Amino acid sequence: MDSFFGVGLFMVDLGYMLSVVLFILGMKWMSHPSTARKGNFTTALGMGIAVVSTLLSAGMKNYVSGGTGNYVWIVSGLLLGSLLGLRLSSRVKMTEMPQMVSLLNGFGGAAAMLIVLAEVFGKGNGGQLFDPGSFDVIRGGENTGRAERMSAIFYHILLLLNLVAGAISFTGSVVAMGKLQGFVTGGSVRWPMQRFTNNGLLLMMLLGIVVFFQAGDGQMAVALLLCAAALLFGVLFVLPIGGADMPVVISLLNSITGLTSALTGFLYDNQAMVMGGVLVGASGLLLTILMCKAMNRSLGAVLLGVFQSGGESSGERTIDTTIRELSLHDAAVLMAYARRVAIIPGYGLAVAQAQHTVHELELQLEGRGVEVTYGIHPVAGRMPGHMNVLLAESDVAYEKLLEMERINPEFPKVDVVLVIGANDVVNPAAERDPGSPIYGMPILQVDRAAAVLVVKRSMSAGYAGIENELFYDPKTRMLFGDAKSVLQKLNLAIKEV
Ligand code: TAP
Repeated sequence: MDSFFGVGLFMVDLGYMLSVVLFILGMKWMSHPSTARKGNFTTALGMGIAVVSTLLSAGMKNYVSGGTGNYVWIVSGLLLGSLLGLRLSSRVKMTEMPQMVSLLNGFGGAAAMLIVLAEVFGKGNGGQLFDPGSFDVIRGGENTGRAERMSAIFYHILLLLNLVAGAISFTGSVVAMGKLQGFVTGGSVRWPMQRFTNNGLLLMMLLGIVVFFQAGDGQMAVALLLCAAALLFGVLFVLPIGGADMPVVISLLNSITGLTSALTGFLYDNQAMVMGGVLVGASGLLLTILMCKAMNRSLGAVLLGVFQSGGESSGERTIDTTIRELSLHDAAVLMAYARRVAIIPGYGLAVAQAQHTVHELELQLEGRGVEVTYGIHPVAGRMPGHMNVLLAESDVAYEKLLEMERINPEFPKVDVVLVIGANDVVNPAAERDPGSPIYGMPILQVDRAAAVLVVKRSMSAGYAGIENELFYDPKTRMLFGDAKSVLQKLNLAIKEV
């Protein structure tokens, strides 16, 4: 029997180790579009192995203790979750991906919260979870139970932190999803003494953790109050943030959920969960920082729902606001007889779902001997990798997608730049106007090309809500209309020239 358990324990440890290795490999592969699918599959496999290893470990513990386990519940949950997951992932539109990520992240937070509540109600003894007196063991006049007491205090602090973080992540993610889906207002919701209420709630939660240890029979009530405060904080923390900043918030909440997974793994001695949680927590935080950096905004400004103002006022700058339009026929001639064309996709391309039409345009131009590349800005669109994902959907070859650092030096050699539904990421004010809210944000320097064509519906601003002098540049021509319909007409026009 001993050797049977030895093998079982070895299998569990091996499973955990394998899953951690697969998580790390998968994340590495996910960092490049050409290996992203493999990376996704590898991390999913790692997660599958971690789940099986956890069940094996729980099964062995049950066998020893003579328990029956909750296998009916576990298998029902697995089946229901897998079916829902399959259905959701096969139906979701590419543009709705951030909402879906947010919802799934919220489920992670809710799971952490429910695990702690189950722990609280499952082990609660007459309302008291932690009894300091129960650790007192006096031997030779000395209390030898001190170490056990400290470790129990540590365990309960982790438990409560997990409860708070899980609850914040749950409601915060649901509100973030609602803002993106449109059932919660996308604007910044504000109320009097907003910072005071939010900071006050945070302080109350910290105090709640301290009070818990003194609460005796009231410990369960304190845990429930903590949970309610954290649920409320999740809502109040996300409401003031504008809908367009949701990807940054979702990434931050994702990082918090990673933290809860790591804490849960620590509480349940599950190494795969600790490592998985640490990886999610760290990568979520890195992504949050990178997004803020690429937008030239501080995390504080995003969380407070404000755009930073720049240095010197830009009020002095005067620009010639003559708008120059071009007919589709002339645009078709310009592109069909160019040597090099660079396409710059932005948020408008995603809204118009014009990814397939732009790929047709690329193939047509290439058929006429034009060299076509795409310039990808790190925060073009509304989610990390938005443009890469869209263009991959329409089978654009990865090697045609040039990142900002690679394409910027190439622009002087480009004959025509076609900007499709992009605005802020090509706004020269980011380099020239110290008073601009986006001053300092790295941009695609399309105005260095010989000619610039811009496809958008009107002269409306983009996400940052500011004018773009590129649209008034003497070498820029506007093609007004919905991106998909303009590109369809452009495709027809090119066939005729
Ligand atoms: P934006 O600056 O938001 O500009 C998009 C432009 O697309 C708008 O000016 C709009 O003009 C046009 N448009 C909208 N619907 C269209 C349609 N159906 N057909 C044609 N054009 C359409 O986009 P961008 O240049 O991609 O920049 C992204 C912005 O989002 C940056 O400021 C970035 O900081 C921010 N942001 C990005 C992320 C990530 S991770 N990607 C996260 C949060 C925030 P019209 O209304 O005139 O058509």
